[in-house]
Amino acid sequence: MTIYRGTVLDTPEDPFTGGPLRAEADAGLLVRDGAILERGAYAEVRSRHPGEQVVDLSGGLVLPGFVDTHVHFPQVRAIGGLGMPLLDWLERCALPEEARLGDPSYAVSVAEEFVGGLTQAGTTTALVFGAHFAPAVDALFTEAARVGIRVTSGLVVSDRLLRDELLTTPERAYDESLALARRWHGVGRNRYAVIPRFSLSCGDDLLKACRAVLEEVEGGYFTSHINENVREIATVARLFELSHYLETYDQHHLVGPRSILAHNVHPTDAELRTLAERGASVAHCPTSNSALGSGLFPLTRHLAYGVHVALGSDVGAGTGFSLLKEGLQAYFMQQLLSEQGYQLAPAHLLHLATTAGATALGLSSEVGDLGVGKRFDAQWLRPRPSSTLDVALRNASGNEDALAKAFALGTPADVRTVWVDGDEVWSQEPA
Ligand code: GUN
Ligand code: ZN
Repeated sequence: MTIYRGTVLDTPEDPFTGGPLRAEADAGLLVRDGAILERGAYAEVRSRHPGEQVVDLSGGLVLPGFVDTHVHFPQVRAIGGLGMPLLDWLERCALPEEARLGDPSYAVSVAEEFVGGLTQAGTTTALVFGAHFAPAVDALFTEAARVGIRVTSGLVVSDRLLRDELLTTPERAYDESLALARRWHGVGRNRYAVIPRFSLSCGDDLLKACRAVLEEVEGGYFTSHINENVREIATVARLFELSHYLETYDQHHLVGPRSILAHNVHPTDAELRTLAERGASVAHCPTSNSALGSGLFPLTRHLAYGVHVALGSDVGAGTGFSLLKEGLQAYFMQQLLSEQGYQLAPAHLLHLATTAGATALGLSSEVGDLGVGKRFDAQWLRPRPSSTLDVALRNASGNEDALAKAFALGTPADVRTVWVDGDEVWSQEPA
């Protein structure tokens, strides 16, 4: 057994319904076989287990591993294409790069970069938009299994209005998706998700095929995009002649408790009501929404309707893998909404980046916080001595203030070590 000693912060109870930040300045976590057996003041845990090995994580902060609920595997190399709205960015930046994943050896390299990007940012669990090519999705699951992170992903499918290399047919989408799901769903920490790219690029027959796959994969997930950009929404409205965007998915019974829809920057009240009724989740992607000028996410309205919200990096429209950055940008955007915005405190940001994502992914009994009975999926934020974050943490007025400083100043460079199930999946030498 191992005792991890450090300042541990987490949010087992939802701060959006009054839950506090749980913070212990000198905590001990007793871990056996990847599970947290005991948690308490370090001195007490130590006195009960004087012979066990101690890993000293004092200085900095120990946080749950982040849960990224929306991130694109084939877009690592497309990060940073600024200056365009969604549809132009897709055409000029994202889709040409995604087409390159048709080359399996290229996909293997990108899979390594992608999984490395997640772990180096402290992300231990992710819902990942895969590629349009089955061998590339294989490469992603293979790399995720090799490194050990928790990935839910699948084949991305489309059958219109994208460049030709990225298009499939309903029959082929069904066959390839099912084959991938049979190979990877429930294997290690991998799970399968059915992923029509967005209604703009998916006709009804393809969405029907997506539903058919979901019926075959017990415990499978559904993810897609929704209501991101006004031109996209207008195009979807022309293509479908339904009352709103959500209905394009809902009419095929794709919206339920295991569904996560990304963005929803411009929802109608009817859509928010239906999302809440179905128990579906929304992945809020703040840097992407800012970079593409998509709009300011109406968090208050989501909460008023009881729609579950978590955080996504949306790499590569999003500007990096760090959910610290996403949390900070979420905070900025709510501030910019003035009285319509939600006053996000540090505990809300941590919750959105951890527990909320675990709940959205049906994993909250295993990960998302560092309580007894949970898996030890954790990260140690340990900034370089005398860096601005180091100075800020050492001078913080308390744990909540320290967390605010971590969101304000923290980057992947500050993530020293990351564990999944008690195994190190990333560690960097101190500078
Ligand atoms: N909508 C359809 N595809 C994409 C994508 O790759 N990124 C974003 N942000 N929105 C999308
Ligand atoms: Zn996306």
